[in-house]
Amino acid sequence: MNVPLLDVRRQNLPLEGELTEAFQRVLHSGRYILGSEVERFEVTGAAIAGARFGIGMSSGTDAIVVALMALGIGPGDEVICPSFTFFATAGCIARVGARPVFTDCCPTSFNIRVDAIEGLITPRTRAIIPVHLYGQPADMDPILEIARRHGLAVIEDAAQAFGAEYRGKLVGSMGDFGTVSFFPTKNLGALGDAGLLVTNDPALAEKSRLLRDHGAYPRYFHSMVGGNFRLDALQAALLSVKLPHLTEYTAGRQRNACEYTRALEGLRDGPVLQILTPAMLPDRTHIANQYTLRVRRTEAWQWAESPRDSLRRWLQERGIASEIYYPVPLHQQECFRPFGPYPALPVCEALADEVISLPVFAELTSTELNAVSDAISDFVYSASQLPPGQRRQPAGLA
Ligand SMILES: Cc1ncc(COP(=O)(O)O)c(C=O)c1O
Repeated sequence: MNVPLLDVRRQNLPLEGELTEAFQRVLHSGRYILGSEVERFEVTGAAIAGARFGIGMSSGTDAIVVALMALGIGPGDEVICPSFTFFATAGCIARVGARPVFTDCCPTSFNIRVDAIEGLITPRTRAIIPVHLYGQPADMDPILEIARRHGLAVIEDAAQAFGAEYRGKLVGSMGDFGTVSFFPTKNLGALGDAGLLVTNDPALAEKSRLLRDHGAYPRYFHSMVGGNFRLDALQAALLSVKLPHLTEYTAGRQRNACEYTRALEGLRDGPVLQILTPAMLPDRTHIANQYTLRVRRTEAWQWAESPRDSLRRWLQERGIASEIYYPVPLHQQECFRPFGPYPALPVCEALADEVISLPVFAELTSTELNAVSDAISDFVYSASQLPPGQRRQPAGLA
C-alpha cells in the first residue's frame, strides 16, 4: 500500500470553496502585499502564540533573521542554539554575521540540552535560540532563567510548534521573540511560503515591522537597513481560512501519534534492534508536527547498514514514505566550518544515525497508519527471528 509522508491536498481540497473565495477577494482588492488581510491574520496568529504582537513574514526563516536584526545581533556576537534542528535556526545566525554556538540535545525530548548552555556562554554571547523540535516545547523555564541571569535574549524557534503549550504558556510568547513557519508541511500550512514573528515587546514589534520592509519610515526614508521580508496578502487570506481548523489538524496528528505509540512501544526491547517511540512529556503539549522514532542497534545487529537505514528501505519497498529529520547535525555541516572547530556532540550525532519520521498528517487513514506500523513490526520480527549467526538481513534488503 502506498502511504505518502504528507498529502496536503487532503487538507486543502475540502476547503476549496472558501480558499477560492479568499483568492477572489484578494484578486479584486488589488492589494497584494501586506494590507488588511495581513493585519487580520497577524492579530489571530499572535493570539495563538499567546503574544501581544504578530508581524507577518515571508517565511519562518525570515522571521528568525528579523528577530536577530531587531536585537542588533551581528558580527562579533555569538548565539547559542541546538545542533539537532533544521538548518534555518543556525543559518540565520550566520546570515546576520554572528557565530552559531551549538549545544548537544536531550536524548529523550531531542530538544536543546539545557545543562550544556551555561558552559558555552562567553562575553560575546547575545542570545539563545531554543527550538521546539518536532512540535514538542523545549524546557523553557530553565532556559529563560539562564538568559535572565546572563542578560541574554531568547528567540523561540516555534516553526514546528505553533499552538503548543509549555506549563500552561503558549510557545512563542515566553522569549523576547517567537518565530513561526507556515511552510505547507506544518500543522498550519500555507499554499506557499509564509511565517510569523511574535513578541510581547512593543518597541521590538515596531522595529521588526520596519525591518520587514527595508527599514523605511516614512516610505523612502531609511533609518536602518532592513530587507523585503513581507507576507503576501494572498497567503494571509488563505491562512485565515485554514486557521479555524488548526485545533482539528493538531488533534488529528496527536491521535495518529498516540496510535503509533500504542502499536510500536512493544518493540522497545528487541534483541537485534530497538524501536524507541518519542517521549511526550507531561508538562507540555506535543503537537506532533513530526512523529519520530529512534531505531537503535543492539550488539546482535550484524549488518553494515544501520538499522534505521534498513528500516527506511524496507518501508520504501512497501510504498511507505518516511523522512530523516535530520541526517547531519549542524555542527558537522560544511558551511559552518569557518565558525568552528566545534566539539563532538554525541547525542546529536547518534540521533542523526537513528531517527526516522513517519507519516503523521491529520488526514492519514487508520488503514494507512496500520500499514505503516505493521510494516515496522514485520521488519523487527524479520530481523530478529533467527538465532545469532543465522540471522538474515530483513527480506528484500541488500
Ligand atoms: C525548526 C525550524 N526552523 C525554521 C524553519 C524555517 O521555516 P521556513 O521554511 O518557513 O522558512 C523551519 C522550517 O522547516 C524549521 O523546521
